[in-house]
Amino acid sequence: MNWQVRDGGVWVQAAQVSDLTSGPPVKLLLSPSMPGWKQRHDIEVFVIGGANPLVLSSECPHQGCPVDWKVERFGCPCHGSEFDAEGRVLNGPASKPLSRLQSSTEDGALWIRIRDQA
Ligand code: FES
Repeated sequence: MNWQVRDGGVWVQAAQVSDLTSGPPVKLLLSPSMPGWKQRHDIEVFVIGGANPLVLSSECPHQGCPVDWKVERFGCPCHGSEFDAEGRVLNGPASKPLSRLQSSTEDGALWIRIRDQA
């Protein structure tokens, strides 16, 4: 998996923009392995395609369970929180939206900032 450090963060090349549709969110598992890391850090995100892709963390802001896409909304299997297609809370107990990850496109590729530079 291609990665780079820039703008104070670690970025990974996640997908080709042409593979992302404007349909349902696409789940991506990012498994970067970088020099100096003792273990892989798997990160699951959802990408909502289109001209400016939106990248949302799959981690529920309530207690961290992975949410999934359930026909027009994200649902959390642990305590039932629901979020709309842009990550806003529809039903609690979560009180915060799904986290948005910074992204950019370069030469047809989608890059996602997965963490701050160590
Ligand atoms: S962890 Fe998602 S609702 Fe509690």
